[in-house]
Amino acid sequence: MNILVTGGAGYIGSHTVYELLESGYNVVVYDNLSRGHVAAVDRRAVFVEGDIRNHQLLKNIISNNTIDAVVHFAADSQVGESMEEPSKYYNNNVAATLALLDTMRDCKVNKIIFSSTAAVYGEPSNWPILENMPTIPTNVYGRTKLVIEGMLADFAMAYGFEYVSLRYFNAAGALKNGRIGEDHAPETHLIPLILKTALGQRKEIGIFGNDYDTEDGTCIRDYIHVTDLAAAHRLALEHIINVGGSRIYNLGSEAGFSVRQVIERAKAITGIDFSVKETPRRAGDPAVLVASSARIKEELGWQPRYSDLDNIIV
Ligand SMILES: NC(=O)c1ccc[n+]([C@@H]2O[C@H](COP(=O)([O-])OP(=O)(O)OC[C@H]3O[C@@H](n4cnc5c(N)ncnc54)[C@H](O)[C@@H]3O)[C@@H](O)[C@H]2O)c1
Repeated sequence: MNILVTGGAGYIGSHTVYELLESGYNVVVYDNLSRGHVAAVDRRAVFVEGDIRNHQLLKNIISNNTIDAVVHFAADSQVGESMEEPSKYYNNNVAATLALLDTMRDCKVNKIIFSSTAAVYGEPSNWPILENMPTIPTNVYGRTKLVIEGMLADFAMAYGFEYVSLRYFNAAGALKNGRIGEDHAPETHLIPLILKTALGQRKEIGIFGNDYDTEDGTCIRDYIHVTDLAAAHRLALEHIINVGGSRIYNLGSEAGFSVRQVIERAKAITGIDFSVKETPRRAGDPAVLVASSARIKEELGWQPRYSDLDNIIV
């Protein structure tokens, strides 16, 4: 099977490329390198530098490599930036994904795995979060991903597309052999920021809000190891290739850790007592985001194997 991975030079994409290659798929990575790194792409994969909005190039790559299915990571994904530059997000997430789907139609490829996000739920009042709970995103980034989920459902209905939309919670961790890991610029994710602080590359780590309705007053999040995410993509691919039909799944570890707990674990594991600064809440940060991943466990047999917090930090 020949798989096109858009955004495969990025964090989650490069880990999924590794997983797919290890499972015997042929992989073509298609990435414009706006955020990704060629060095993160496994050498067994074909790498093409290109933008998913470039219809002709993408069409040639899909036809020349007889692609069977697409795994679509390419997107911009910074919540703060999305609020300041919504046009960039509607363009690179919504319009670019529409361009990708139209190119796939032209090439008669109709199977796609899509990177969605817990941000589609906004500020849920209950947890663990189930897939059928209301989706009311509180930021532009989450809204763009929800629009794309709607587009996928419409393409499925009208053009026979089959898709699996994976709503990730907080991706974290690195490949066990240490060859690839998380390297965003700028970095906005908690665990790499904490580790950079421990390494002395940052002065301090900020806690945004200590007055949430949680045990220690800081926000609670669900951290899922990137290797477990990669395995879920493989299972999702097997599902659309062998069984068919479209599905939406949460992907989280189903365990919640507060920001303070993550910092304390990192201090204990690294043995370094770095500086922590408590500042007021940020707008739009829900108190608790913890997934139920029961649906993907039950339907695809997915089981997280690496997602305990110590394993992620180490
Ligand atoms: N990291 C997380 O915790 C998280 C959580 C939920 C959802 N997601 C989603 O997962 C996906 C991957 O996230 P990530 O953390 O690996 O991000 P990333 O920025 O590391 O990877 C995205 C990749 O897409 C490429 N890209 C962007 N726009 C492109 C375009 N128009 N054409 C071709 N390539 C393009 C970038 O160069 C980059 O390599 C994104 O869609 C993101 O929204 C991530």
